[in-house]
Amino acid sequence: MNVAADKPLQKRIKRHVSGPVHTFFVVVAPGLEALCRRELAALFGDGRSLTLVPGGVSFEGRLEDLYLANLQLRTASRVLMRIAAFKAVGFSALEKRLREIPWELYLPTGEVPAVHVTARHSRLYHSQAVAERVRAAVADRFVVSAGGPAAPQQVFVRLLDDRLTLSLDSSGENLYKRGIKTHGGRAPLRETLAAAILQIAAYSGGEPLLDPMCGSGTFCLEAALMAARIAPGRLRSFAFMRWPAFRPARWRHLLREADAAVVVPVRRRIFALDKSPQSVQHLAQTLETKGLTAWVGVEQGDFFELDPRPLTAGTGLVVINPPYGRRLGTPAASAHLFRQILGRLQAVYPGWRCALIAPDSKLTEDLPFALRIVPLTHGGLRLPLLVGRIP
Ligand SMILES: C[S@@+](CC[C@H](N)C(=O)[O-])C[C@H]1O[C@@H](n2cnc3c(N)ncnc32)[C@H](O)[C@@H]1O
Repeated sequence: MNVAADKPLQKRIKRHVSGPVHTFFVVVAPGLEALCRRELAALFGDGRSLTLVPGGVSFEGRLEDLYLANLQLRTASRVLMRIAAFKAVGFSALEKRLREIPWELYLPTGEVPAVHVTARHSRLYHSQAVAERVRAAVADRFVVSAGGPAAPQQVFVRLLDDRLTLSLDSSGENLYKRGIKTHGGRAPLRETLAAAILQIAAYSGGEPLLDPMCGSGTFCLEAALMAARIAPGRLRSFAFMRWPAFRPARWRHLLREADAAVVVPVRRRIFALDKSPQSVQHLAQTLETKGLTAWVGVEQGDFFELDPRPLTAGTGLVVINPPYGRRLGTPAASAHLFRQILGRLQAVYPGWRCALIAPDSKLTEDLPFALRIVPLTHGGLRLPLLVGRIP
């Protein structure tokens, strides 16, 4: 169906989807809620209410705000749009309510969405059965084709205390996928977490930044986006672009505004180093193909032999995600490396600020200089982050 040519449908889309204010929910990794709320407050700058709940931040806004959140938030994993909320205690009532939802106004024509259900303290606890009802209700509204795209539209259903909320995912692939890296590296951090760490370490985008165990370069690439004020979602696409309510002209306008904010550096202030030639080669290639070499320099070398003084006259932020864990073999080896890094920072980086991931919270009890401990998690693992100024 040609949605644009179908005037009555267009009117209904405007009345139900593009016109009204909606409730949006920004999903974040545990612990990043407050940072994300701060990003949203700065993004909208209109003092609107931003409600922080475990796992995310909700806010009210129009579709354009949803576009903007996807494009600009650095710490968000995805952005959901709530399309229904009701009490649900039995399947026949659930089916009736699901059939009343005008799915054709929200979903790409003819596609069955992937449905994710979580249920707690609810009589409808069988997630698979609930998901089937949602898919059937969609199929009822329009002719659905088998197969569909590789990354189908996702619908999230949450049942809590018998209350069901139904949301559409507007992001598509998780937002940590910036569309920049072509090589993941062996133990990459998620870009959203790297951005959060840079924000926690108060990286301004202006001072020198060193990522001396860079791996795939997550920190230095995020820092480059922040320093250049490049929108983190500028190089990727989003699920909302396939919605019938999508307005390409509005989107292009937001992109033009985002591009106008980009700044070109006077000199290079972000430096990456890794002892692995392959990591360095991949990162150099990424920087080249994405046009980021003006911001980031990368070299092969050993952190324990690096002297930052020839790189930059002033002090700045050194941010390290060391290779702890399985590859190092034993907890003793991780502890040894951790102490060596702290010793090197103390010896060669006085006056710099640091953000260092520790292998274990026990090791953070006995530090050679005062650092703030920020508990983070990554893929279910606890990840204590140490931040502060090196004396
Ligand atoms: C956990 S990975 C870093 C992952 C990175 N944050 C990312 O997102 O891809 C640790 C990296 O430290 C590098 N490395 C280990 N010892 C090093 C040393 N002494 N000097 C420089 N790099 C080192 C490894 O080659 C590896 O790429």
